[in-house]
Amino acid sequence: MDLVVRNAKLRKKDGLWDIGIEDGLFTAVDRHIPVKGRMEIDAGGHLVSPPFIDPHLHLDAVLSVGDPRFNISGTLLEGISIWGERKKTLTKETIKKNAREAIKWAIANGTLKIRTHVDTTDPTLKTVEALAEIREEEKENIDIQIVAFPQDGIYTFPDGEKLMRRAVEMGADVIGGIPHNEFTREDGVRDVEFVYDLAEKTGTLIDIHIDETGDDQSRFVEVMAKESINRGMQGRAAASHTTAMHNYNNDYALKLIGILKRAEMNMITNPFDNSVLQNRTDGYPRRRGHTRVDELLARGVTVCIGHDSIMDPWYPMGKGSMLSAANLLLHTAHMSGYDQFPQLFDMITTASAVTMNVSDGYGIKVGNQADFIILDAVDEMEALRLISECLYVVRKGKILVETRPAERILTLARGKSETVDFKLKKG
Ligand code: FE2
Repeated sequence: MDLVVRNAKLRKKDGLWDIGIEDGLFTAVDRHIPVKGRMEIDAGGHLVSPPFIDPHLHLDAVLSVGDPRFNISGTLLEGISIWGERKKTLTKETIKKNAREAIKWAIANGTLKIRTHVDTTDPTLKTVEALAEIREEEKENIDIQIVAFPQDGIYTFPDGEKLMRRAVEMGADVIGGIPHNEFTREDGVRDVEFVYDLAEKTGTLIDIHIDETGDDQSRFVEVMAKESINRGMQGRAAASHTTAMHNYNNDYALKLIGILKRAEMNMITNPFDNSVLQNRTDGYPRRRGHTRVDELLARGVTVCIGHDSIMDPWYPMGKGSMLSAANLLLHTAHMSGYDQFPQLFDMITTASAVTMNVSDGYGIKVGNQADFIILDAVDEMEALRLISECLYVVRKGKILVETRPAERILTLARGKSETVDFKLKKG
């Protein structure tokens, strides 16, 4: 065998396991593999997981914070204005350089699949061109899906539809929209219908920025669900953000979640951006603009977590850590119940795979591509609490990342030197 991982803690399995890899595939998952691998890694009881998946990231905007200016108000609208200013001078080389760097951060944090939204409202479509090149150049390192994303709306300027069609011809894998950003409710509905028409014709998936506002009258996700059901396109669409749902009245939310379930909608919540951008006009008390994560999960709707931004006009923080995003949601969505730790972990792994339609071949299973991470944690709860480092990130059986976590040596008064790693020592 090319590689054998010993003493791995696997999700939802008792005890420790060995994992064998040959020719880039998992070839054995057993209590003990008797043969010696050409290379061996001792996982030492740490959690070995399928890699993280980020189903919502804007790679054309990453690492652009402060250029041309910082967002002073911290609002979504100022973020969109700054992005509009930046687009005028943006070059393909700059987009690619920043995307490449952010991809390195994501991989170092254990992410090996990304769905990126790419702005299609600039007539040159250099954003789409740049990310299509990156998708090809980085394909040995990471899988990338591109969403044609009309940041300014499809009907707020003359050529919106044309540019969306061109983006699909240029290789976008997924079609996006932004109905709440159109001028009127009617144009918002047209936005959704256009996306479904194009997706139906081209066989692509759908992922719409939708109801990303605190406005409780923003109700476009119901239109998505209707289109999914009426066209027989269940399971093919993702609704990103849906923050208005936080503010809907409970009767409407109850009805809506039932329809979303019937439509097999996949929901993507983005804790970083949505915790700072939404409900900005509240004053006090200040609501947080997340969609109804626990209620959706309780009704059996697939919900996953996106990173959304890494240092861009909308969110100036971030380092490409899906565990960090899940940790934030744990707090803001009241998900600190013991059973919710594995649920949160699913939201950055298996649920994202369902949303991106990449579940086949994903996971630590004989026959699958040997992609996995070894976390510096024994279980999901510890990984979420510590926002653990990835000790190893492996793709197709090759080690992409090897991390040596910081060693903290304490010498307290009257004490001997000792190390501290913040881990709970049992017994
Ligand atoms: Fe977004």
